[in-house]
Amino acid sequence: MAKACVIGWPVEHSRSPLIHRYWLAQYGIDGAYDKEAVRPEDFAAFVGALAEHGYIGANVTLPHKEAALHLARTADEAAIAIGAANTLWLDADGHLHASNTDAYGFMTNLDAEAPQWNEGLGAAMVLGAGGAARAVLYGLIKATEAKIFLANRTRARAEALAHLFRPRVEVVDWEARNAALGTCGLLINTTSLGMTGQAPLDIDLTALPQDAVVADIVYNPLLTPLLVAAAKRGNPTVDGLGMLLHQAVPGFERWFGVRPEVTPALRAHVVASLSPEAA
Ligand code: ATR
Repeated sequence: MAKACVIGWPVEHSRSPLIHRYWLAQYGIDGAYDKEAVRPEDFAAFVGALAEHGYIGANVTLPHKEAALHLARTADEAAIAIGAANTLWLDADGHLHASNTDAYGFMTNLDAEAPQWNEGLGAAMVLGAGGAARAVLYGLIKATEAKIFLANRTRARAEALAHLFRPRVEVVDWEARNAALGTCGLLINTTSLGMTGQAPLDIDLTALPQDAVVADIVYNPLLTPLLVAAAKRGNPTVDGLGMLLHQAVPGFERWFGVRPEVTPALRAHVVASLSPEAA
């Protein structure tokens, strides 16, 4: 029986088991998908003994994504560019390989939920400069010729990311984010703001064109204050759950040999696990 897992610290909140177990059942695959809570200091040893633990591969979540990349014998272009891996697998010789499917997940979902997003796109605004922003920027740069603005509370972090992706990303002061929305056909929140238990993202959408697509990577709640405000003024919106579902596809295919589908039924299954106000 093929077995994979998600490794994190903490890992309790991870929705990955819900997604992969759903697909295992749907496709009638004799496989399993577990949760593994592994401390940062134990991560290298755990991954080094992945096969001994019974696994053919794993998803990796916080805080192990950078370590996962460095432990792998090979890593794909996305993982190298993003500087982190979220998907691991062992080959027939027991060698570890790494991929990052976050950019794939974000872009595939954006294409599915707002297929018009790149039509005549002049500029996009990305908010935040953490690991999620790096994945989103990597995906965006490959998919569009449009100008990409990046604003982050701590400007130095935005500068560092922009430098990685030079010359495609232009840093905008956090204080200037609202005014800069005037030419943007796409706005993406990659910060943790708006998540249940966190402050809402502080943004004024007045200058944003009404046909601009507004995407949030936060999925709990499904409708963040940003998405509520955007929908209210008529902007098309893309929530963060789709990214989570789509990023799981390549790993499942790699481990279990079937390319799974992201369906409304899978989405409903995961939505049911979110906090009540999300539904
Ligand atoms: P991840 O790697 O998951 O993206 P992270 O590195 O903790 O997470 O980044 C969180 C993002 O949310 C950062 O861009 C952070 O801004 P700073 O770089 O200035 O810390 C942003 N963020 C968190 N709280 C914020 C707040 N109250 N106002 C503005 N931005 C905030």
